[in-house]
Amino acid sequence: MQLACFVGARPNFMKMAPLLRALAAHAQVDVTLVHTGQHYDPSLSDVFFEDLGMRRPDVSLEVGSGSHGQQTARVLERTEEFLLSCVADGKIDRVVVVGDVNSTMAVSLAAVKLGVSVAHVEAGLRSFDRGMPEEINRIVTDSIADLLLVSEPAGIDNLRREGHADDHVHLVGNVMIDTLLHLLPSARGRDTLSRHSLVPKGYGVVTLHRPSNVDHPQTLAELLHALADISRELPLVFPIHPRTRKQIELYDLIDVLSNARGILELPPLGYLDFLSLTSQAKAIVTDSGGLQEESTALGIPCLTMRGTTERPVTVQQGTSTLIGNDAEQLRFHMNAVLEGTYKKGSCPELWDGQAAKRIAEILVA
Ligand code: UD1
Repeated sequence: MQLACFVGARPNFMKMAPLLRALAAHAQVDVTLVHTGQHYDPSLSDVFFEDLGMRRPDVSLEVGSGSHGQQTARVLERTEEFLLSCVADGKIDRVVVVGDVNSTMAVSLAAVKLGVSVAHVEAGLRSFDRGMPEEINRIVTDSIADLLLVSEPAGIDNLRREGHADDHVHLVGNVMIDTLLHLLPSARGRDTLSRHSLVPKGYGVVTLHRPSNVDHPQTLAELLHALADISRELPLVFPIHPRTRKQIELYDLIDVLSNARGILELPPLGYLDFLSLTSQAKAIVTDSGGLQEESTALGIPCLTMRGTTERPVTVQQGTSTLIGNDAEQLRFHMNAVLEGTYKKGSCPELWDGQAAKRIAEILVA
């Protein structure tokens, strides 16, 4: 069986790594690993291959950044070219995509148009907010993929409601948590905290990169001021995504951060350093989807700066609370964390480190 497994952007790498490991246990499967190049900075891409112990891509499509249309078009065009060269030799039986980034959707589209089946890992998630680029990517990808591998029960309900036949849909658990459980001991063994003079539970971790939070000057300014306030009580570590850094500079907000003595600005971190920080944090403030899941698996309070989530289990059962981009809500829930009254959560079903194994078995069958 010939599989082409695609990655493109930072959150894809930790989802694909366990799958590659699980597939390697099946001798009849041959995997070609393709990187679209949506993320190309070493800090958003190369470091993950090293930290995750992932083999280098066999093929790089080098699409780079651009508007959504440009980026999607480049992935579509270059994936088609790659697949055509393989399909001519009868080489690819199925394409495997993960997550909800532009690459996920564009690769799926290129594949189905050539008659190649698509398996989507992390299918079925819906925020019901079509203003989010990822929501469009999820809807399009699921509508054309023929094998839908789902991480939480809401995903099954969503796919049923959209009319997908049960035999195409499988609840398999969460591959991102496979990676987390696999690498937690090495992450904890690192000197990340001492390098930054931090002590366990003595700091919070912040990440922000969604257009809804960082693309509007007033919203971004209010959030940064609220974080500066909070950092007087709880030091905050803030690894800054390149697009966020660009917006902070564009809106002239650098001083808000540099004047806040309790905020430690860092460049984007590799997987292990970041997990070392998050796993020992008092709280996490984020707009990332993956981090909502990781904090739930780690049992760490997560104040999610979004109005909706496609991962409802992290709110219903886990440690996440949706606070939108409301600075007051942020202060309110952070107080609860500091006073010890914030909710405890539990780990969802099948987030047990074995999701990739289940997926590999389904793919082989
Ligand atoms: C993408 C995903 C998002 C995911 C995020 C994680 C889409 C629509 N969005 O958002 O779902 O949560 O990755 O990081 O696919 N840039 C660099 N270096 C890079 C890549 C990007 O500096 O290696 C900068 C560029 O200015 C670029 C901007 O970041 O224009 C946005 O990059 P892009 O890949 O379009 O989306 P992300 O915001 O990273």
